[in-house]
Amino acid sequence: SQPVAPSQRVIVSARPFRLDIMEGRDVLMSLNSRGLLAFEQLRMRKDTFSYKVTSTVASVWDNIKRKAKEEEEKVEDGMWEETFKSHSDSKPNGPSAISLDFSLPGVEHVYGIPEHADTLRLKTTDNGDPYRLYNLDVFQYELYNPMALYGAVPVMLAHNAQRTTGIFWLNAAETWVDISSNTAGKTVFGKMLDYVQGSSETPQTDVRWISESGIIDVFIMLGPTPKDVFSQYASLTGTQSFPPEAAVGYHQCRWNYNDQEDVTSVDAGFDEHNIPYDYIWLDIEHTDGKRYFTWDPHKFATPKEMLQGLMDKKRKMVAIVDPHIKVDSNYKIHNEIRNRAFYIKNKDGGDYEGWCWPGSAGYPDFTRADMRDWWASMFAYDQYEGSMENLYTWNDMNEPSVFNGPEVTMHKDAVHGAWEHRDVHNLYGFYVQMATAQGLIRRSGGVERPFVLTRAFFAGSQRYGAVWTGDNAAEWDHLKISIPMCLSLGLVGISFCGADVGGFFKSPSTELLVRWYQTGAYQPFFRAHAHLDTPRREPWLFGPENTALIREAVRQRYTLLPYWYQQFYHSHRTGQPIMRPLWVEYPQDPATFALDDEFLIGKMAQDDKHFTFRKLILTCVPQVWFDVHTFQKHNGAQNLYIPVTISSIPVFQRGGSIIPRKSRVRRSSTCMMQDPYTLYVALNPQRTAEGELYIDDGHTFNYEKKEFIHRKLFFANNMLSSENLAPDAQFSTRSWFERIVILGASKPSKVTLKTADGQESQLEFDFDASMSVLTLRKPSMNAGLDWNVMLQ
Ligand code: GLC
Repeated sequence: SQPVAPSQRVIVSARPFRLDIMEGRDVLMSLNSRGLLAFEQLRMRKDTFSYKVTSTVASVWDNIKRKAKEEEEKVEDGMWEETFKSHSDSKPNGPSAISLDFSLPGVEHVYGIPEHADTLRLKTTDNGDPYRLYNLDVFQYELYNPMALYGAVPVMLAHNAQRTTGIFWLNAAETWVDISSNTAGKTVFGKMLDYVQGSSETPQTDVRWISESGIIDVFIMLGPTPKDVFSQYASLTGTQSFPPEAAVGYHQCRWNYNDQEDVTSVDAGFDEHNIPYDYIWLDIEHTDGKRYFTWDPHKFATPKEMLQGLMDKKRKMVAIVDPHIKVDSNYKIHNEIRNRAFYIKNKDGGDYEGWCWPGSAGYPDFTRADMRDWWASMFAYDQYEGSMENLYTWNDMNEPSVFNGPEVTMHKDAVHGAWEHRDVHNLYGFYVQMATAQGLIRRSGGVERPFVLTRAFFAGSQRYGAVWTGDNAAEWDHLKISIPMCLSLGLVGISFCGADVGGFFKSPSTELLVRWYQTGAYQPFFRAHAHLDTPRREPWLFGPENTALIREAVRQRYTLLPYWYQQFYHSHRTGQPIMRPLWVEYPQDPATFALDDEFLIGKMAQDDKHFTFRKLILTCVPQVWFDVHTFQKHNGAQNLYIPVTISSIPVFQRGGSIIPRKSRVRRSSTCMMQDPYTLYVALNPQRTAEGELYIDDGHTFNYEKKEFIHRKLFFANNMLSSENLAPDAQFSTRSWFERIVILGASKPSKVTLKTADGQESQLEFDFDASMSVLTLRKPSMNAGLDWNVMLQ
């Protein structure tokens, strides 16, 4: 798919068919080297068939009849009809599967193909089921398991110390991925022994993709670096949408906040306990009988008053809008969809009906552009009564979930115009979120950025909002798996990902809840959520000490919002993930290739810890890291044992980076818009550092019209400077720098600030010799202008 570099060649052999992608003499990837290419021809069932060809001329007709007979004789069990429990699949096109194998010489590590509750590095599947991609509403999912979950991105990355490549298998039908490797099961010792004895063969991973229907449509991404693969993939499916800044803050959700008084009192609780938040969420019970776009007339009688109350505090709300529509002739949405013939059809041509939260429900055909257009129009303020501009949307159950369907989803022989549901299943949720995001954009006249959370997703869903990992449980292992699950999503473009903080099912111990906040505060989408049957768990319900710990975690999130926001902007522009596995930044360091409990946000590291001592690998690359809380410096290339207590969140800033923070935490991110910045400059051994600062209005698309500030901050030769990265952009801010903290510094005799107008002034500073930390007090220059600070 990408231009092949001059040193690269593609060799195609005809018999047997095989395709080798070479660089020099090295084979980077082979297709069909194991001969597993397979595809079924579209054929017609005999009964439908005789009807369709009656007018054909006799000789052709004979020929066709003979073929049909041959087909019939080949009948295997399940070819033309399958049953699953009480469900039957009529398979009008008979078998239609496709398959192809890929060999990856020199590769021992493959990643991606979310969504699975499994390790970051994919496992071989020789002794069990392949990884399955089929969007499903799974009740209490199991961990470390290749079973299908809510979303599917058919993209795999292969990595070794020399190169990263990717395979994008563009198919939205049920898909299976088999992985085998010639080094599977070998211990490191075994591999060393092979090496010493000279008996080692080149490691190789072999994968096979199988889809139930469709055509073989594959994009190969040749890297060579992880960053190249991300941008190659972004060129195919787009980048992460740029969310409103508030959506990067903290979200408070539960199933359910009972009524308006409940919302008001939870909102007040955050102020009382001095914990910031940006969005409070309403689950399905807020509606009038699970009729989406409506409000319960008693519990939420005056939604605009409630929303106005939040708006006055610069806070927002998210309400759920699921894609199953109650079959009820008194419900406007249902009547319109039925009258416009927008429902998905069953195999016999009637409107498909299934069972979901409202009871009997229809499923709008979101694969139709005219249906999506109509759906988007339902978010207009005069259509969605009680909505206001600070109300955003959550799309759930969009696999789609059908309680009485096979595997809790839609029958594969349901019909979307010319397509069977079988062909487009994994795309349904993608289209639901797309239509909803369009609705939110349109209601504002194209001005405001939308925020839409989805549970089901496909390749490209990053363009429409955020994804969460569904119904996890309040268990330590679920906290742990949230890291590889989000990392896997980031690798395939979906950066805005998070897991229910606290765990959805069951009730977390206080320690687990605190630890979950501490981890969630460092993941891109940060939302607490809980099942209807669980006891309340707002952050202040566990005693003052735990409230303080949770407050601290949430506040750390808010101080880092300028950094998070700049990361989102970067991801939006470039397709690079925000939450990154360590190997993405250290692609040549095998010690990082299978780490599941450490990650980078951009270039800052977080370590997941719920034990008393944790081993932290600070990578072989000679680098220094600074503990962001104590400023203690650690050298790279070592395994570090750090004692932790319940109050520690091990987070490290890499030497060589500059991170902007805002230290005055307020009620919500919007309240902090004009606040001053503090810069944390962490010097590397060469005494240099660099970073970026991005500022805009935080909520509109005006950044596309170049209304933003984008600065490069760098430190070299004892000078820290701010340079304009976007000279043609226009935006101004009242924010200024209130402090600059330089880590790994030596003591200067004087510090001189030079501003854009040529003015020079001396800055006051403190130097902590024991930690080598230099703090410049109140330099006070505007965040949007040129300046430099000279240490002498
Ligand atoms: C699903 C969602 C969950 C939500 C519930 C009720 O289980 O995954 O987050 O609370 O439905 O809407």
